[in-house]
Amino acid sequence: MQQNLCVEDDGLPCPEVGSHAETKYRLLALYDELFSTGMKNKWDQRVYIDLYAGAGIARIKGTKKTLKGSPLLALTVADPFDKYIFCEDSAELLHALKARVARLSPQAAAAYIHGSCDLRIEEICAEIPKPSPQNKVLNLCLVDPFDFGIKFETLQRLSTFYVDFVVLLAIGMDANRNYDHYVDGNSSKIDEALGNTDWRERWQVSGVKKSDFRRFLATEFARSMESLGYIQRPLDIMKLVRSTEKNLPLYYLALFSRHTTAFKFWDEVLKYGDNQMRLFI
Ligand SMILES: C[S@@+](CC[C@H](N)C(=O)[O-])C[C@H]1O[C@@H](n2cnc3c(N)ncnc32)[C@H](O)[C@@H]1O
Repeated sequence: MQQNLCVEDDGLPCPEVGSHAETKYRLLALYDELFSTGMKNKWDQRVYIDLYAGAGIARIKGTKKTLKGSPLLALTVADPFDKYIFCEDSAELLHALKARVARLSPQAAAAYIHGSCDLRIEEICAEIPKPSPQNKVLNLCLVDPFDFGIKFETLQRLSTFYVDFVVLLAIGMDANRNYDHYVDGNSSKIDEALGNTDWRERWQVSGVKKSDFRRFLATEFARSMESLGYIQRPLDIMKLVRSTEKNLPLYYLALFSRHTTAFKFWDEVLKYGDNQMRLFI
C-alpha cells in the first residue's frame, strides 16, 4: 500500500523543503491511503481539502530529490477522493499545481482557490458538495502552514461540515524562539490559532517550564478542537517530527476527528512512523 513519494522534476516552480519533510510526506501518504480506502463504502462522497496546498511537488534542499507534495499524495491514492479542493496563497505555486494535476491526474474533480484560506473560507465551503441524507459527504482537511499562523476561526467554520483534520502544529522552533513576544508581548498570533485569549492565564498558573511551552500549546490546541466536538486524545498520539540534522523538535502532526474509526487509521500511521524511525536509527 506504500506510495512512491518520488516524482520527476518538470521544471515548473518547485519549493525547497528540509529533509524532515520526507517524514511528513510518508505519514500523510499512508493516512490518505487508509482514509480514502477505508471510508470509500461508508460515505457517498469523500472530499479532500488542502488549505495550504503548495505547488504539488517539493525538492529536498541541497539534493535533486523531488517528492510529491500533499496534493499529489492525495490525488495518487489507490481509491481517489471524489473531489479535491486546493487553496494556495501564491499565484505562481497554484498555477504550477494546476498544471501538474492536469498532467498527472486529469480525471480528478479539482477546485482551485487562490488567496489566503482564512479570507477565502466561504469560497472553500461553497466548493464542498451539499450534504443531505441521500448524499453523505465526508471531508479530510489538511492544515499545513509554515508556522503557527493557523486561524482557529477558519477551522471552526469548516467544522460545521463532517470534517476530519490533519493539522501540522508548527510550534517546535517558533514557540521557543518567540516565547517572550508571544507570552509577554502584544502578539495575537497564538490567540488566533487557539481561538481564545484565556490560554495566557492557564499558562501563568500551570507551573510548566518554559521549555515545555510547545507541549502546552499543543495541548491547548487540542482543547480548542475539543470545544468543536473533536475527540480529546492524549498528546502522545500527535507525531513529533524532529529535524534530521540536529534532532530538534519542529512540529507535531495531529489528527482531529469526531469518530473513533479515524483514530484506528491514525494508530496505524503512528506505528508505521515509529518503525520507520527505528529503521533510520
Ligand atoms: C508548508 S507549505 C505547504 C505545502 C504543501 N502542503 C505540501 O505538503 O507540499 C505552506 C504553503 O502555504 C502557502 N500559504 C501561506 N499562507 C497561506 C494562507 N493563509 N492560505 C493559503 N496558503 C497559504 C504558502 O505559499 C506555501 O505554499
